This record gives sequence, structure tokens and C-alpha cells, in this order.
Amino acid sequence: MRKGKTVETLHPNIERVLISEEQLRSCVSKMGKDITRDYADKPGIVVVSVLRGAAIFMADLVREINLPLEMDYMAISSYGAGTTSSGVINVQKDITTDIRGKHVIIAEDIIDSGLTLQYTIEHLKEFGAASVEVAALLRKERENQAAVDARYVGFTIPDEFVVGYGLDYAERYRNLRYLGVLKPRVYGGED
Ligand code: IMP
Ligand code: MG
Repeated sequence: MRKGKTVETLHPNIERVLISEEQLRSCVSKMGKDITRDYADKPGIVVVSVLRGAAIFMADLVREINLPLEMDYMAISSYGAGTTSSGVINVQKDITTDIRGKHVIIAEDIIDSGLTLQYTIEHLKEFGAASVEVAALLRKERENQAAVDARYVGFTIPDEFVVGYGLDYAERYRNLRYLGVLKPRVYGGED
């Protein structure tokens, strides 16, 4: 059994922790409770996550929603291996659930440019969902963000590149339990 506070060893490439494991847990738990309350009278809930970054958030979020629901996944890319959005959106994998007349909640890791979500919302609406709402763990505070109406937002963060809890840099760091900021030397390709 685990006692007391979790002792996290900081990954050597992480400069600092932005959001701790405990903060993530309590935020996701609260969001799940809010969704449970808001969707209590809505049959046919489908939580759709956008791979790969949102997979861990979605896995934790659905376990905090105390209602019957289905899960499905999309894979969309708008990013290369770098840290800036290309703006080019490409559906690599679509949902296979029939969402006509159902209530869709998109579980997204982060709203950065907002382009991925803007596209995903429109895409899912075209399938005839009764409603499409967004549950985003993070929203970056930045200029030129597409106007995305996110009903649930966990944390608003500064315009910095973050990794962990599903989010990657060049496909690494997704398995960190916390959200952190990388040391600048990592972007220089030294590690
Ligand atoms: P968008 O710019 O809002 O379209 O974000 C597209 C995707 O880029 C997100 O779903 C994330 O997977 C990824 N992304 C955006 N900002 C970050 C970041 O700070 N760290 C890691 N991935 C990010
Ligand atoms: Mg990514």
C-alpha cells in the first residue's frame, strides 16, 4: 500500500513540474463529477478522444463519469515532430460508432491553436450527433487561437510547450505522471 505523498523523481530532461500528479487527479475527478451532473438525463453518451495525446486523460476521465457511456477514438495529425502547429489537419483514423442522436463529448489533451478541435467538432457534427461538447484538460493562453467553445477546461496554462500525462515531444514523455516543461537543450537535439 502506498503511504503519504507520492515521491516523484523528476525526469532529467524536465526543467520543472507545471501541474503535479495530485493536481491532475483532483482536476479530472472534478470534471468527471461535473459531466456526471450535466449529463445525468442524457442517454447515449459517447466520449471520443483524439489520439494519441488525449488517451491518458480520457482513460482517467471516463472512470470519473458515473453514467453509462461508449468510448471511441480518432487520430488526427496537425503536428510534425516539432513544437508548432502546421495547421494541416489529416484524419488518420475515424470513429466507427454510430453517433446519430447521441451526445458526444470530445476528450482533448490541449487547445493550442484550436485548429484540431475546430475541425473535430465540425467533423463529428456531420455524423448527426445530438450534441458535441469539448472536455479539454488544458487550454493555452495565447493569441490567434481559433474560437473553440470548450464546455469543460481543466487548466489554463501559459503559452509554453508542455509534456507528460499523454503529451509528447517527438513521441517521448507521454508516460510521465505530471505535466512538465522541458529543458531548452532538449529542443536543441542534445538528448
Ligand atoms: P492545436 O494547435 O490546438 O490544433 O493542437 C494540436 C495538438 O498539438 C494537440 O492535441 C496536442 O497533441 C499537440 N500540442 C499542442 N500544444 C502542445 C504542447 O504544449 N505539448 C505537447 N503537445 C502539444
Ligand atoms: Mg503530439
